Amino acid sequence: MVIPNRALRSVIWFDIRCFLLIFFRVLTRFLTLDVVRENEPTNNVPDTIFSKLGTQLHRRDDHPIGILKNAIYDYFDANYSGKFVKFDDLSPIVSVKAIINLFLQNFDDVLVPADHVSRSYNDTYYVDSQTVLRCHTSAHQTELLRIGHSHFLVTGDVYRRDSIDSTHYPVFHQMEGVRVLSPDEWVDSGLDGTSYAAKDLKNSLEGLAKKLFGDVEMRWIDTYFPFTNPSFELEIYFQEKWMEVLGCGVTEPEILKRSGKIHSVAWAFGLGLERLAMVLFDIPDIRLFWSTDQRFISQFSDGKLGIKFKPFSKYPPCYKDMSFWISDSFTENNLCEIVRGIAGDLVEEVRLIDNFTNKKGLTSHCYRIVYRSMERSLTDEEINQLQGDVRDAVQSKLMVTLR
Ligand code: DAH
Repeated sequence: MVIPNRALRSVIWFDIRCFLLIFFRVLTRFLTLDVVRENEPTNNVPDTIFSKLGTQLHRRDDHPIGILKNAIYDYFDANYSGKFVKFDDLSPIVSVKAIINLFLQNFDDVLVPADHVSRSYNDTYYVDSQTVLRCHTSAHQTELLRIGHSHFLVTGDVYRRDSIDSTHYPVFHQMEGVRVLSPDEWVDSGLDGTSYAAKDLKNSLEGLAKKLFGDVEMRWIDTYFPFTNPSFELEIYFQEKWMEVLGCGVTEPEILKRSGKIHSVAWAFGLGLERLAMVLFDIPDIRLFWSTDQRFISQFSDGKLGIKFKPFSKYPPCYKDMSFWISDSFTENNLCEIVRGIAGDLVEEVRLIDNFTNKKGLTSHCYRIVYRSMERSLTDEEINQLQGDVRDAVQSKLMVTLR
Protein backbone atom coordinates (compact mmCIF):
# COMPACT_ATOMS: atom_id res chain seq x y z
CA MET A 1 0.00 0.00 0.00
CA VAL A 2 1.24 3.48 -0.85
CA ILE A 3 1.53 5.69 2.19
CA PRO A 4 0.51 9.22 1.20
CA ASN A 5 2.85 12.03 2.04
CA ARG A 6 2.35 14.24 5.06
CA ALA A 7 0.40 17.01 3.33
CA LEU A 8 -1.95 14.57 1.68
CA ARG A 9 -2.42 12.71 4.94
CA SER A 10 -3.45 15.86 6.73
CA VAL A 11 -5.95 16.72 3.95
CA ILE A 12 -7.48 13.27 4.21
CA TRP A 13 -7.57 13.55 8.00
CA PHE A 14 -9.22 16.97 7.73
CA ASP A 15 -11.87 15.52 5.39
CA ILE A 16 -12.55 12.70 7.78
CA ARG A 17 -12.98 15.12 10.66
CA CYS A 18 -15.36 17.32 8.64
CA PHE A 19 -17.34 14.31 7.66
CA LEU A 20 -17.56 13.12 11.26
CA LEU A 21 -18.58 16.55 12.46
CA ILE A 22 -21.38 16.84 9.91
CA PHE A 23 -22.42 13.27 10.51
CA PHE A 24 -22.72 13.79 14.26
CA ARG A 25 -24.47 17.15 13.85
CA VAL A 26 -27.08 15.57 11.63
CA LEU A 27 -27.33 12.63 13.98
CA THR A 28 -27.77 14.76 17.11
CA ARG A 29 -30.25 16.99 15.31
CA PHE A 30 -32.15 13.89 14.32
CA LEU A 31 -31.96 12.51 17.83
CA THR A 32 -32.95 15.80 19.40
CA LEU A 33 -35.94 16.03 17.14
CA ASP A 34 -36.74 12.51 18.05
CA VAL A 35 -36.41 13.25 21.74
CA VAL A 36 -38.50 16.41 21.80
CA ARG A 37 -41.11 16.16 19.11
CA GLU A 38 -43.76 18.81 18.82
CA ASN A 39 -47.35 17.66 18.92
CA GLU A 40 -46.29 14.30 20.29
CA PRO A 41 -49.23 13.52 22.56
CA THR A 42 -47.00 12.23 25.32
CA ASN A 43 -44.63 15.19 25.13
CA ASN A 44 -45.67 17.95 27.49
CA VAL A 45 -42.38 19.88 27.56
CA PRO A 46 -43.02 23.48 26.48
CA ASP A 47 -40.35 25.69 24.93
CA THR A 48 -39.98 27.72 28.14
CA ILE A 49 -38.82 24.56 29.89
CA PHE A 50 -36.88 23.10 26.99
CA SER A 51 -34.83 26.28 26.78
CA LYS A 52 -33.64 25.81 30.36
CA LEU A 53 -31.94 22.48 29.61
CA GLY A 54 -28.19 22.85 29.80
CA THR A 55 -28.18 26.12 31.74
CA GLN A 56 -26.68 24.35 34.76
CA LEU A 57 -26.81 27.15 37.31
CA HIS A 58 -25.37 24.69 39.82
CA ARG A 59 -22.08 24.60 37.91
CA ARG A 60 -21.46 28.34 38.20
CA ASP A 61 -19.15 28.95 41.12
CA ASP A 62 -20.26 32.56 41.55
CA HIS A 63 -23.99 31.89 41.36
CA PRO A 64 -25.87 31.38 44.66
CA ILE A 65 -26.80 27.81 43.64
CA GLY A 66 -23.17 26.95 42.76
CA ILE A 67 -21.82 28.66 45.90
CA LEU A 68 -24.18 26.61 48.06
CA LYS A 69 -23.31 23.39 46.22
CA ASN A 70 -19.62 24.02 46.86
CA ALA A 71 -20.23 24.76 50.55
CA ILE A 72 -22.02 21.40 50.91
CA TYR A 73 -19.18 19.68 49.04
CA ASP A 74 -16.72 21.24 51.53
CA TYR A 75 -18.73 19.91 54.44
CA PHE A 76 -18.72 16.34 53.13
CA ASP A 77 -15.05 16.52 52.12
CA ALA A 78 -14.07 17.69 55.59
CA ASN A 79 -16.17 15.10 57.43
CA TYR A 80 -15.59 12.05 55.25
CA SER A 81 -12.02 12.77 54.13
CA GLY A 82 -12.95 13.26 50.49
CA LYS A 83 -14.74 9.91 50.18
CA PHE A 84 -17.86 11.33 48.51
CA VAL A 85 -17.63 11.26 44.72
CA LYS A 86 -19.41 14.24 43.14
CA PHE A 87 -21.56 14.24 40.02
CA ASP A 88 -23.05 17.44 38.69
CA ASP A 89 -23.24 16.78 34.97
CA LEU A 90 -25.60 13.81 34.60
CA SER A 91 -28.23 14.29 31.91
CA PRO A 92 -31.63 15.44 33.21
CA ILE A 93 -33.37 13.38 30.52
CA VAL A 94 -34.00 10.06 32.21
CA SER A 95 -36.08 6.97 31.62
CA VAL A 96 -39.18 5.89 33.43
CA LYS A 97 -38.56 2.18 33.20
CA ALA A 98 -35.71 -0.26 32.76
CA ILE A 99 -33.96 -0.17 29.42
CA ILE A 100 -31.26 -2.79 28.91
CA ASN A 101 -27.97 -1.38 30.13
CA LEU A 102 -29.46 2.02 30.71
CA PHE A 103 -30.02 2.75 34.36
CA LEU A 104 -31.42 6.26 34.26
CA GLN A 105 -34.59 5.75 36.09
CA ASN A 106 -36.86 8.28 37.61
CA PHE A 107 -39.54 6.03 39.05
CA ASP A 108 -39.11 2.24 38.82
CA ASP A 109 -35.54 2.10 40.06
CA VAL A 110 -36.41 3.97 43.23
CA LEU A 111 -39.58 1.91 43.77
CA VAL A 112 -42.10 4.69 43.09
CA PRO A 113 -45.48 2.84 42.98
CA ALA A 114 -47.22 2.52 39.61
CA ASP A 115 -50.13 4.72 40.71
CA HIS A 116 -48.05 7.41 42.46
CA VAL A 117 -49.20 10.94 41.61
CA SER A 118 -45.68 12.04 40.66
CA ARG A 119 -45.90 9.79 37.57
CA SER A 120 -48.84 11.74 36.11
CA TYR A 121 -48.54 14.05 33.09
CA ASN A 122 -49.97 16.70 35.35
CA ASP A 123 -46.94 16.62 37.65
CA THR A 124 -44.04 15.51 35.46
CA TYR A 125 -42.60 16.61 32.11
CA TYR A 126 -42.66 13.69 29.68
CA VAL A 127 -40.43 13.77 26.64
CA ASP A 128 -42.11 10.62 25.36
CA SER A 129 -44.04 7.90 27.12
CA GLN A 130 -40.86 6.28 28.46
CA THR A 131 -38.71 9.33 29.06
CA VAL A 132 -39.04 12.24 31.46
CA LEU A 133 -37.16 15.31 32.61
CA ARG A 134 -36.03 14.00 36.00
CA CYS A 135 -38.27 15.23 38.79
CA HIS A 136 -35.68 14.42 41.45
CA THR A 137 -32.00 13.60 41.62
CA SER A 138 -32.96 10.29 43.27
CA ALA A 139 -33.31 9.13 39.65
CA HIS A 140 -29.55 8.51 39.65
CA GLN A 141 -29.22 6.54 42.90
CA THR A 142 -29.47 3.06 41.42
CA GLU A 143 -27.38 3.68 38.35
CA LEU A 144 -24.48 4.90 40.52
CA LEU A 145 -24.86 2.14 43.10
CA ARG A 146 -24.82 -0.45 40.32
CA ILE A 147 -21.56 0.76 38.92
CA GLY A 148 -20.01 0.42 42.34
CA HIS A 149 -20.15 3.82 44.04
CA SER A 150 -20.72 3.76 47.78
CA HIS A 151 -20.43 7.46 48.72
CA PHE A 152 -21.72 10.08 46.29
CA LEU A 153 -23.39 13.43 45.84
CA VAL A 154 -25.46 14.16 42.73
CA THR A 155 -26.39 17.75 41.95
CA GLY A 156 -28.64 18.67 39.07
CA ASP A 157 -31.56 20.57 37.63
CA VAL A 158 -34.93 18.92 38.24
CA TYR A 159 -38.27 19.62 36.57
CA ARG A 160 -41.80 19.61 37.95
CA ARG A 161 -45.10 20.94 36.69
CA ASP A 162 -46.36 23.06 39.53
CA SER A 163 -48.18 26.16 40.70
CA ILE A 164 -46.67 29.66 40.38
CA ASP A 165 -45.54 31.71 43.35
CA SER A 166 -42.37 33.16 44.84
CA THR A 167 -41.01 29.77 45.97
CA HIS A 168 -42.11 27.53 43.08
CA TYR A 169 -40.50 27.40 39.67
CA PRO A 170 -40.82 24.47 37.24
CA VAL A 171 -37.05 24.03 37.13
CA PHE A 172 -35.03 23.93 40.32
CA HIS A 173 -31.94 22.21 41.68
CA GLN A 174 -31.47 19.32 44.03
CA MET A 175 -28.57 17.55 45.65
CA GLU A 176 -28.77 13.87 46.41
CA GLY A 177 -26.42 12.18 48.86
CA VAL A 178 -25.93 8.44 49.33
CA ARG A 179 -23.65 6.58 51.74
CA VAL A 180 -23.36 2.79 51.87
CA LEU A 181 -22.22 1.24 55.14
CA SER A 182 -20.74 -2.23 55.49
CA PRO A 183 -21.38 -4.53 58.50
CA ASP A 184 -17.98 -3.93 60.10
CA GLU A 185 -19.02 -0.30 60.65
CA TRP A 186 -21.95 -1.13 62.92
CA VAL A 187 -21.04 -4.55 64.32
CA ASP A 188 -19.53 -3.15 67.53
CA SER A 189 -22.12 -0.43 68.02
CA GLY A 190 -24.73 -2.61 69.71
CA LEU A 191 -27.23 -1.41 67.11
CA ASP A 192 -28.69 -3.18 64.09
CA GLY A 193 -27.64 -1.88 60.65
CA THR A 194 -30.79 0.16 60.04
CA SER A 195 -30.71 1.94 63.41
CA TYR A 196 -27.01 2.59 63.04
CA ALA A 197 -27.51 4.06 59.55
CA ALA A 198 -30.41 6.25 60.74
CA LYS A 199 -28.25 7.61 63.57
CA ASP A 200 -25.29 8.22 61.28
CA LEU A 201 -27.55 9.96 58.75
CA LYS A 202 -29.08 12.27 61.35
CA ASN A 203 -25.68 13.21 62.79
CA SER A 204 -24.35 13.95 59.37
CA LEU A 205 -27.26 16.15 58.27
CA GLU A 206 -27.51 17.99 61.60
CA GLY A 207 -23.83 18.85 61.15
CA LEU A 208 -24.55 20.13 57.64
CA ALA A 209 -27.49 22.26 58.82
CA LYS A 210 -25.28 23.75 61.57
CA LYS A 211 -22.58 24.57 59.05
CA LEU A 212 -25.07 26.32 56.78
CA PHE A 213 -27.36 28.00 59.28
CA GLY A 214 -25.31 28.27 62.48
CA ASP A 215 -26.76 27.19 65.80
CA VAL A 216 -30.39 26.77 64.77
CA GLU A 217 -33.18 24.75 66.34
CA MET A 218 -33.97 21.61 64.33
CA ARG A 219 -36.51 18.84 64.42
CA TRP A 220 -36.98 15.51 62.67
CA ILE A 221 -40.37 14.57 61.25
CA ASP A 222 -41.22 10.97 60.37
CA THR A 223 -42.53 10.75 56.82
CA TYR A 224 -42.86 8.44 53.81
CA PHE A 225 -40.73 8.07 50.69
CA PRO A 226 -40.97 5.01 48.44
CA PHE A 227 -37.20 4.56 48.45
CA THR A 228 -36.41 4.75 52.17
CA ASN A 229 -37.56 3.16 55.41
CA PRO A 230 -37.56 4.76 57.91
CA SER A 231 -37.92 8.14 56.20
CA PHE A 232 -37.51 11.59 57.73
CA GLU A 233 -37.71 15.26 56.95
CA LEU A 234 -35.46 17.77 58.63
CA GLU A 235 -36.99 21.08 59.61
CA ILE A 236 -35.15 24.08 60.94
CA TYR A 237 -36.58 27.03 62.83
CA PHE A 238 -35.81 30.04 60.75
CA GLN A 239 -37.36 33.51 60.79
CA GLU A 240 -40.01 32.37 63.24
CA LYS A 241 -41.18 29.44 61.14
CA TRP A 242 -40.41 25.74 60.84
CA MET A 243 -39.03 25.17 57.36
CA GLU A 244 -38.58 21.78 55.69
CA VAL A 245 -35.08 21.63 54.25
CA LEU A 246 -34.60 18.05 53.11
CA GLY A 247 -35.97 14.52 52.84
CA CYS A 248 -33.93 11.47 53.75
CA GLY A 249 -33.93 7.98 55.16
CA VAL A 250 -32.45 4.51 55.28
CA THR A 251 -32.43 3.06 51.75
CA GLU A 252 -34.92 0.27 51.02
CA PRO A 253 -33.01 -3.06 51.00
CA GLU A 254 -34.57 -3.87 47.60
CA ILE A 255 -32.64 -0.97 46.01
CA LEU A 256 -29.38 -2.25 47.46
CA LYS A 257 -30.19 -5.82 46.49
CA ARG A 258 -30.78 -4.81 42.87
CA SER A 259 -27.41 -3.10 42.95
CA GLY A 260 -25.71 -6.25 44.22
CA LYS A 261 -25.13 -4.91 47.73
CA ILE A 262 -26.79 -7.59 49.83
CA HIS A 263 -25.10 -7.28 53.20
CA SER A 264 -24.86 -3.51 53.33
CA VAL A 265 -27.19 -0.79 54.53
CA ALA A 266 -27.27 2.73 53.15
CA TRP A 267 -28.69 6.14 53.85
CA ALA A 268 -29.76 8.78 51.34
CA PHE A 269 -30.99 12.35 51.33
CA GLY A 270 -32.28 14.88 48.81
CA LEU A 271 -32.28 18.60 49.38
CA GLY A 272 -33.63 21.52 47.36
CA LEU A 273 -30.90 24.06 46.73
CA GLU A 274 -33.16 27.04 45.88
CA ARG A 275 -35.04 26.66 49.15
CA LEU A 276 -31.85 26.83 51.16
CA ALA A 277 -30.27 29.53 49.00
CA MET A 278 -33.32 31.82 49.31
CA VAL A 279 -32.87 31.74 53.07
CA LEU A 280 -29.08 31.91 53.17
CA PHE A 281 -28.75 34.77 50.66
CA ASP A 282 -32.05 36.55 51.46
CA ILE A 283 -33.37 36.07 47.91
CA PRO A 284 -37.07 36.95 47.95
CA ASP A 285 -38.25 35.40 44.67
CA ILE A 286 -37.20 32.13 43.03
CA ARG A 287 -37.27 33.70 39.52
CA LEU A 288 -34.22 35.76 40.47
CA PHE A 289 -31.98 32.69 40.24
CA TRP A 290 -32.53 32.80 36.46
CA SER A 291 -31.86 36.50 36.14
CA THR A 292 -29.07 37.56 33.83
CA ASP A 293 -29.23 41.13 35.14
CA GLN A 294 -25.79 42.27 36.31
CA ARG A 295 -27.41 43.96 39.30
CA PHE A 296 -28.27 40.45 40.53
CA ILE A 297 -25.32 38.43 39.29
CA SER A 298 -22.62 40.84 40.45
CA GLN A 299 -23.70 40.60 44.09
CA PHE A 300 -22.36 37.06 44.53
CA SER A 301 -18.91 35.60 44.41
CA ASP A 302 -17.18 32.25 44.60
CA GLY A 303 -16.93 30.86 48.13
CA LYS A 304 -18.97 33.61 49.82
CA LEU A 305 -21.93 31.97 51.52
CA GLY A 306 -22.90 34.73 53.95
CA ILE A 307 -23.68 37.53 51.44
CA LYS A 308 -27.17 39.02 51.72
CA PHE A 309 -28.86 40.03 48.50
CA LYS A 310 -29.78 43.73 48.25
CA PRO A 311 -32.88 44.13 46.06
CA PHE A 312 -32.02 46.68 43.40
CA SER A 313 -35.55 47.91 43.11
CA LYS A 314 -39.04 46.67 43.70
CA TYR A 315 -41.18 47.36 40.66
CA PRO A 316 -44.96 47.64 41.05
CA PRO A 317 -47.09 44.53 40.62
CA CYS A 318 -50.13 44.46 38.36
CA TYR A 319 -53.11 42.26 39.25
CA LYS A 320 -55.47 40.73 36.70
CA ASP A 321 -58.37 38.48 37.66
CA MET A 322 -59.86 35.84 35.42
CA SER A 323 -62.98 33.74 36.11
CA PHE A 324 -64.18 30.68 34.26
CA TRP A 325 -66.35 27.59 34.53
CA ILE A 326 -63.98 24.64 34.75
CA SER A 327 -64.33 21.29 33.02
CA ASP A 328 -63.59 17.88 34.57
CA SER A 329 -60.14 17.83 33.05
CA PHE A 330 -59.11 21.23 34.42
CA THR A 331 -55.94 21.34 36.54
CA GLU A 332 -54.15 24.27 38.07
CA ASN A 333 -50.79 23.01 36.78
CA ASN A 334 -52.08 23.18 33.19
CA LEU A 335 -53.32 26.71 33.77
CA CYS A 336 -49.94 27.74 35.19
CA GLU A 337 -48.12 26.19 32.25
CA ILE A 338 -50.18 28.32 29.85
CA VAL A 339 -49.62 31.51 31.83
CA ARG A 340 -45.89 30.82 32.12
CA GLY A 341 -45.71 29.98 28.40
CA ILE A 342 -47.13 33.40 27.51
CA ALA A 343 -45.84 35.69 30.25
CA GLY A 344 -42.57 33.87 31.04
CA ASP A 345 -40.83 35.23 34.10
CA LEU A 346 -43.08 38.30 34.15
CA VAL A 347 -45.65 36.26 36.06
CA GLU A 348 -45.05 36.29 39.79
CA GLU A 349 -48.04 34.40 41.09
CA VAL A 350 -51.22 32.63 40.01
CA ARG A 351 -53.60 32.33 42.95
CA LEU A 352 -57.09 30.89 43.28
CA ILE A 353 -59.11 33.63 44.97
CA ASP A 354 -62.66 32.36 44.51
CA ASN A 355 -64.21 28.96 43.97
CA PHE A 356 -67.88 27.99 44.02
CA THR A 357 -70.29 25.46 42.51
CA ASN A 358 -73.72 26.66 41.33
CA LYS A 359 -77.05 24.85 41.56
CA LYS A 360 -76.53 23.25 38.17
CA GLY A 361 -73.29 21.70 39.41
CA LEU A 362 -70.99 23.98 37.40
CA THR A 363 -67.82 25.01 39.22
CA SER A 364 -66.35 28.44 38.79
CA HIS A 365 -62.76 29.42 39.60
CA CYS A 366 -61.42 32.93 39.81
CA TYR A 367 -57.64 33.25 39.54
CA ARG A 368 -55.63 36.36 40.32
CA ILE A 369 -52.54 36.66 38.12
CA VAL A 370 -49.81 38.88 39.47
CA TYR A 371 -47.50 40.33 36.82
CA ARG A 372 -44.26 41.93 37.94
CA SER A 373 -40.86 42.13 36.39
CA MET A 374 -37.78 41.74 38.57
CA GLU A 375 -35.90 44.12 36.31
CA ARG A 376 -38.13 46.93 35.02
CA SER A 377 -41.58 48.57 35.14
CA LEU A 378 -44.20 46.99 32.91
CA THR A 379 -46.51 49.15 30.80
CA ASP A 380 -50.32 48.85 30.90
CA GLU A 381 -50.30 48.09 27.21
CA GLU A 382 -47.88 45.21 27.63
CA ILE A 383 -49.84 43.68 30.51
CA ASN A 384 -53.19 44.02 28.73
CA GLN A 385 -51.70 42.27 25.72
CA LEU A 386 -50.36 39.44 27.90
CA GLN A 387 -53.63 39.07 29.75
CA GLY A 388 -55.57 39.03 26.46
CA ASP A 389 -53.30 36.28 25.13
CA VAL A 390 -53.64 34.32 28.37
CA ARG A 391 -57.45 34.52 28.22
CA ASP A 392 -57.50 33.33 24.60
CA ALA A 393 -55.14 30.43 25.28
CA VAL A 394 -56.94 29.37 28.45
CA GLN A 395 -60.25 29.33 26.61
CA SER A 396 -58.96 27.40 23.63
CA LYS A 397 -56.61 24.93 25.33
CA LEU A 398 -58.22 24.19 28.67
CA MET A 399 -61.83 23.55 27.63
CA VAL A 400 -63.13 26.10 30.13
CA THR A 401 -65.75 28.80 29.62
CA LEU A 402 -64.63 32.30 30.47
CA ARG A 403 -67.13 34.31 32.49
N1 DAH B 1 -36.45 12.60 46.08
C1 DAH B 1 -37.10 13.26 47.20
C2 DAH B 1 -37.87 14.48 46.67
O1 DAH B 1 -37.56 14.96 45.61
C3 DAH B 1 -36.11 13.70 48.24
C4 DAH B 1 -35.47 12.53 48.91
C5 DAH B 1 -36.06 11.97 50.01
C6 DAH B 1 -34.30 11.98 48.44
C7 DAH B 1 -35.50 10.87 50.67
C8 DAH B 1 -33.71 10.88 49.08
C9 DAH B 1 -34.33 10.35 50.19
O2 DAH B 1 -32.59 10.33 48.67
O3 DAH B 1 -33.75 9.30 50.79
O4 DAH B 1 -38.74 14.95 47.32
